[in-house]
Amino acid sequence: MPSDLPLPATHARAVSDALLEKLNRRIERAGGCIAFDSFMESALYEPGLGYYNNGLMPFGEQGDFVTAPEVGQLFGRCLARCVASVLEQVEQGVVLELGAGSGLLAVTLLAELSNMGVLPERYYLLERSPGMRARQQELMARRQPALLDRVEWLDTLPEEPVSGVVFGNEVADALPVKRFRWQGGEVNELGVGRRGGRLSICEMSNAQLTTYVQQLAQQGGWEGDYQAEYCPTLSPWIRGLADSLEKGLLLLIDYGYGRAEYYHPQRSMGTLMCHYRHRAHADPFWCPGLQDITAFVDFTTVAEAATAAGMQLEGFSSQARFLVACGIDQLMAEIVPDNTRQFMILSNEAKRLMLPGEMGERFKVIGFSRDLLQSVKGFAAQDLRSRL
Ligand SMILES: C[S@@+](CC[C@H](N)C(=O)[O-])C[C@H]1O[C@@H](n2cnc3c(N)ncnc32)[C@H](O)[C@@H]1O
Repeated sequence: MPSDLPLPATHARAVSDALLEKLNRRIERAGGCIAFDSFMESALYEPGLGYYNNGLMPFGEQGDFVTAPEVGQLFGRCLARCVASVLEQVEQGVVLELGAGSGLLAVTLLAELSNMGVLPERYYLLERSPGMRARQQELMARRQPALLDRVEWLDTLPEEPVSGVVFGNEVADALPVKRFRWQGGEVNELGVGRRGGRLSICEMSNAQLTTYVQQLAQQGGWEGDYQAEYCPTLSPWIRGLADSLEKGLLLLIDYGYGRAEYYHPQRSMGTLMCHYRHRAHADPFWCPGLQDITAFVDFTTVAEAATAAGMQLEGFSSQARFLVACGIDQLMAEIVPDNTRQFMILSNEAKRLMLPGEMGERFKVIGFSRDLLQSVKGFAAQDLRSRL
């Protein structure tokens, strides 16, 4: 258990205890062990109690982590240049943002597209957390009242495919994952049970997962003990997104690797990560509902699913390279700070987005197009596609 985490406030602790009670009952009903993806689903999305549904704000400096749009406006303004390069090529183009979090990116993006004279016909937001959706609605009404009539919240993907841009920043990493252990050729799914009055790892068998993991082990040349994650919903999710685009761009930004790096023999403890008050640690059982739980994204799976759905790989890039290709340097040159303090804020923002030790290299951007005649802004010829 992580020892240096700040103590949660009493009301937050009560939320976590209530969720824990639910989980305990579920584990008991299941005979002592539930799958990790089912635990993660509950820890993040349990109505009223899960991390994204309990009303305790996870984003920003006061929360648990900072995403690129929360760093400042540069990210959203660069992304607008990519989005505009697609909207200029389609008629009556729309934007569909997945998992919009606080709604800040939507606000920045819409403002920039409006300044550029390339507003989408509709700006859809598809957000699975009702609490997050309410925050987005409040922020949009306060910050962009004049554009509100273009904005619409959806419960599901549109029934009819749309033209334009479908995108998500840090959404794929929030899809629940399964965990497994490979020991000298034997595979076990790692579930969640109870021992000594606490949540703990239990072992389950899963024939389908075993077959897949054995393939990974062979391709990766694993030796000894190996533990990692696998996201069972990633492929169908991507397929659904691809199918919802008649013409345009599907864009995902997240931390992750191509499969060979993801399941590299040296990454033998997996990529699962938890965040609480800007501290990262690896114990998913600490205070369920109060911390974020994520896993890196296997971008090879993303690419296989999107291309199987008939989309074309537009590019796979680091966030730093993507922002450069979107023209972050010109944008910064255009913003003339009034004073030294403003200048410092802007350059710190750029550093956080671009430096390799910050978000610049860990975060990747992957884009797939359908029926576009011209290339999309943001992807340079020399990208990372050989690592998929
Ligand atoms: C880590 S946050 C990222 C928020 C925002 N995109 C940003 O960059 O600040 C993940 C968000 O995705 C939402 N989410 C997770 N899975 C989703 C899904 N399948 N469809 C739509 N939203 C989802 C969560 O509720 C949360 O708002």
